[in-house]
Amino acid sequence: MCLMLRSRDIRIAKFRLANPLCLAPLLGVNCIAFRLMCHNYGAALVYSPMLHSTGLVKADDEGRSSMLEFVKEERPLAIQIIGRDPNIMAESLQYIEPYCDIIDLNFGCPDKDILGQKMGAYFSKHPEQMTKIVSKIVGSTNKPVTAKIRIGWDSQHLNQNKAAKILEDAGVAAIAVHGRTTKQRYSGKANWESIKQVKEKANIPIIGNGDIWSADDAKRMLDMTGCDMVMVGRGAMGNPYLFRRCVSLVMEEKALPDQTTEQKGRTLLEFIKLYSKVQPVKRFTELRQHSLWFCTGAKGASTKRLMLSKAENEEELVRIVRKEFKV
Ligand SMILES: Cc1cc2nc3c(=O)[nH]c(=O)nc-3n(C[C@H](O)[C@H](O)[C@H](O)COP(=O)(O)O)c2cc1C
Repeated sequence: MCLMLRSRDIRIAKFRLANPLCLAPLLGVNCIAFRLMCHNYGAALVYSPMLHSTGLVKADDEGRSSMLEFVKEERPLAIQIIGRDPNIMAESLQYIEPYCDIIDLNFGCPDKDILGQKMGAYFSKHPEQMTKIVSKIVGSTNKPVTAKIRIGWDSQHLNQNKAAKILEDAGVAAIAVHGRTTKQRYSGKANWESIKQVKEKANIPIIGNGDIWSADDAKRMLDMTGCDMVMVGRGAMGNPYLFRRCVSLVMEEKALPDQTTEQKGRTLLEFIKLYSKVQPVKRFTELRQHSLWFCTGAKGASTKRLMLSKAENEEELVRIVRKEFKV
């Protein structure tokens, strides 16, 4: 029953998605090459890292174009913005609309400076203040507008149901619920029960997020919470192949084995090639950091990381990958 529903109709507003798997917004991780790889391995929807709406509006042309690194091959794409002022957020839309299919609003970032600016997860303490922003953005674009929230400020103040109702009433097309509180940041176990509660009451698609590390986790979250989609965050870092395993299990009930160390090495080489092809601005430290993430789960991961971290340019990196992964 669940499987049939899943394979048939996954929609955000009128937008149809191929499967219920998406790549979470990840600042410092989701470069074009990584989003493309996740897309190629099966993610039905990928998110941009959060973009600061004030930054978009205030930047000069050059600065702005460095924030707007997107390609059409990665679509469907959700671009996420963060902000406080509904007018500035609305003004920023003109810059991102040409590149994306969905506009996502960040109400979940727990970083100190973001909270200090009364943005992101600040709204987990003051959910009613989201209404102004959502109404303004929904009224300013023809694209579906979605939101990403946490389940509350801390464990004593879980308010995910209230927040979801506020967002739905204000007109969002879907809500991604990260099953952690703001105080938890990224620690502890994600609370899937809270995601389930939101799904039970909501009349719009709910995207469950938190602790999807394996294909089994993705299937369990869909089954346990009844959510419409699952969003994969840290589990995808250095492991875009996770999407293939998730899609296979969820859509076809076929469990695929994890990649061997050699296969991981080949996927990493594929990533390095893609990175140099598609990134408009190549940052070697970014490429090397991704390479270190790809070592997770490989045999002798710490030695591999140590060797890769010594690389100073792309050529050296490729040589070390070939040697260390025996590919
Ligand atoms: C390095 C990093 C960067 C992140 N950047 C963003 C971001 O830009 N926007 C956002 O809404 N969440 C961001 N998150 C939160 C993730 O999207 C996700 O909600 C969180 O990691 C929980 O999912 P997971 O348990 O699968 O990792 C970030 C998390 C990490 C670890």
